[in-house]
Amino acid sequence: MYNQPMLRDDALKGKTIVVTGGGTGLGKAMGTYFLKLGANLIITSRKLEVLEKTADQMMADTGGQVLAVQCDVREYAQVENVLAQAMAKFGKVDGLVNNAAGNFISPTERLSANAFSSIIDIVLKGTVNCTLAFGKHWISEKQQASVLNIITTYAFTGSAYVVPSACAKGGVLALTRSLAVEWGKYGIRTNAIAPGPFPTKGAWDRLLPGDLAEKFDFKSRVPLKRVGENQELANLAAFLISDFSGYINGEVITIDGGEWLQGAGQMNGLEAIPSEMWDMLEQMTRAAKGS
Ligand code: HXC
Ligand code: NAP
Repeated sequence: MYNQPMLRDDALKGKTIVVTGGGTGLGKAMGTYFLKLGANLIITSRKLEVLEKTADQMMADTGGQVLAVQCDVREYAQVENVLAQAMAKFGKVDGLVNNAAGNFISPTERLSANAFSSIIDIVLKGTVNCTLAFGKHWISEKQQASVLNIITTYAFTGSAYVVPSACAKGGVLALTRSLAVEWGKYGIRTNAIAPGPFPTKGAWDRLLPGDLAEKFDFKSRVPLKRVGENQELANLAAFLISDFSGYINGEVITIDGGEWLQGAGQMNGLEAIPSEMWDMLEQMTRAAKGS
């Protein structure tokens, strides 16, 4: 049931949406669903060949219109070119999904300064570049729009071994909440999604290489005992980018099966206690009343 499309047909009809990093993984899943809901789509990333293949597949699957534009989000001029090409083809842009990211696991002390800043530049500077270029355009055109930032749950908590990503995603969260207030008056809504584990090749190759995927099984960390389905994320993204969420601004919605709270609650480790022990523990805690 959870992998069924959620919104009604034509929910995004007439909308034009840009998805950065839209040629693979979660960006591809979100873009495909936006097309099914009637949107026009622009997908961007560094690898034009990957984008063009995805665009062809998306158009064949959905009958929608997809423009593939090569763009390294770290380069502001390339981002401005995406905007110019989108305007030339579709005449307007209504939504931006900042989904492009870079990440890999490493003890922080092993990172070069360039390795650290590469991740910050893709995730934080890239998101800022896109948001700034499109935001300036919308404000000068007096056009309402919706920005959706894809962060992670460790934007709230930090995380060892992915520290550049955690710093950058934390920055994107601050950007989300800041601009929601500052740009609300222009009719620009800014929201974020914090996904838990959704197995994609891009993420798993860099976060769980080799047999780490079996050794560090995400499913066991999630209270619901499963990973996410791409369509579940696409459903949430379509809602947040659409006018149906028109009064939601500055929100970050977690979609992780409860994973990050599982790690946070002080007594959550009691999950390990076998159920037959609870009678004895209850007697002991009740006995504490008289002590
Ligand atoms: C240490 C590394 C390294 C590694 C690269 N570097 N990989 N250092 N360990 N495994 C260093 C390089 O030596 C170099 O530093 C610097 O990082 C930049 O590397 P380049 O290869 O030149 O960078 P670039 O070509 O820009 O590639 C960026 C990348 C790459 C991030 C390194 O992996 C990439 O293109 N990723 C894009 C897709 C991606 O990462 N998807 C996953 C998102 S998942 P020096 O000093 O040598 O020059 C995600 C989910 C999180 O975010 C939550 C999941 C549950
Ligand atoms: P992915 O397939 O590797 O997606 C990342 C995309 O970003 C790729 O298409 C990549 O394309 C693009 N990209 C990287 N550097 C870029 C740059 N400099 N300029 C433009 N595009 C660039 O991984 P994914 O799992 O779908 O991740 C998508 C988003 O979800 C990311 O923001 C990630 O942090 C987030 N997320 C994922 C998970 C998960 O479990 N999968 C969990 C939490 C959050 P090119 O290589 O062609 O540039």
